Amino acid sequence: MRDDRASGDVLVGLMSGTSADGISAAAVRFDASGEKPSATLLAYHEQPYVSAQRERLLRAIDGVSLASLAGASLSALSRLDFELGAWLADAALAVIGNAGLVPREVRAIASHGHTIWHEAPLATWQIGQSAVIAEKTGIDVISDFRVRDVAAGGQGAPLVAIADRLLFGADGAWRALQNIGGIGNVSVVPPRGVDAPVVAFDTGPGVAIIDGVVRTLVPGLAYDVDGTLAKRGTAIERVVAESLAEPYFASPPPKSTGRELFNRAYIARFVARCREAHAAATNEDIVATAVAFTARSIADAYRRFITAPVADVVISGGGARNPALVGALTAALAPLPVRMFDTVFFDGDAKEAVAFAFLGRLFLERRAGNVHGATGARGPRVLGKLTPA
Ligand SMILES: Nc1ncnc2c1ncn2[C@@H]1O[C@H](COP(=O)(O)OP(=O)(O)O)[C@@H](O)[C@H]1O
Ligand SMILES: [Mg+2]
Repeated sequence: MRDDRASGDVLVGLMSGTSADGISAAAVRFDASGEKPSATLLAYHEQPYVSAQRERLLRAIDGVSLASLAGASLSALSRLDFELGAWLADAALAVIGNAGLVPREVRAIASHGHTIWHEAPLATWQIGQSAVIAEKTGIDVISDFRVRDVAAGGQGAPLVAIADRLLFGADGAWRALQNIGGIGNVSVVPPRGVDAPVVAFDTGPGVAIIDGVVRTLVPGLAYDVDGTLAKRGTAIERVVAESLAEPYFASPPPKSTGRELFNRAYIARFVARCREAHAAATNEDIVATAVAFTARSIADAYRRFITAPVADVVISGGGARNPALVGALTAALAPLPVRMFDTVFFDGDAKEAVAFAFLGRLFLERRAGNVHGATGARGPRVLGKLTPA
């Protein structure tokens, strides 16, 4: 019998994604290492941000991108860094409790933090002070995963590629794993056990534009729950086509993006373009346009940049909870089958947090966490920094 306390391979992964909906925390047990690891999700906890928390995170990004210290003063940013550390610690303690564990049974917390600036390969910046997490939990914290890949000339993203390859590949077939968070990213992974290059890149917006449009048009609504608005509207084709001309989509991988491009100014312009193109456009039409644009941008990326014989597309992240988006994406990718991550593995909302727990484990083994062929870094690198308990 193995004793997890002795083998110490339970890690907690913490993720605060670009959509700023909340913190995802996963308690994961890892068995075996090397080329055939396996991960068991022990518990998953979502800690939603209240609107004031979300607003502070989004304002930090807007403030930085406007280079205006009026929007986000240095004092506000550094306080947010510490407060977010405390929120992350709370989420970690909650998921540890949900798993029926106590902190000393957890080997480490792997915390992604929240990206407030991503401009690879020049810079990337995640906040959520690891010292606070270590102090509040009494557990070793591994954080700051992206910076080393960027320092080595890479995009620092997508970092889920290694988990996608080693944990979520298919037997005997190529698979595309598409996560749809605020930003969308894909990993195209070879059949399990086959050593072939992984292609992984950010496809563009995930739910960032859809959420942004909804928040602009219907104040108080955080997102289009169950795709209700989009399903009642009709996409404005001209705006979809114009939006797909954004140069990011045509630029070849390695590439990554974030809220620096698909920000609130972009969303305001998108809404304005819808109204110019179609004076009688309803809110529902504008949301439907954002959905069609997002789905088509993903399918276009597959046509442009994926040459491997992909047998299925497995989708995860909050965007997979939006039936209007899933429907549009399924139509745009046909005849490729689109499957829900939940039906193949476990709760797809937990996937990114599990991937960061896996990166934490790789750090503990001093193994590379980046797939450098995908990120564009000069070579394999151990990712993360340790803050001892
Ligand atoms: N029931 C639902 N209907 C429509 N959209 C949903 C639903 N549940 C979640 N979402 C979408 O998922 C988003 C959160 O996705 P998530 O994967 O957490 O993104 P991130 O990793 O960027 O935080 C929400 O902002 C919303 O757009
Ligand atoms: Mg999230």
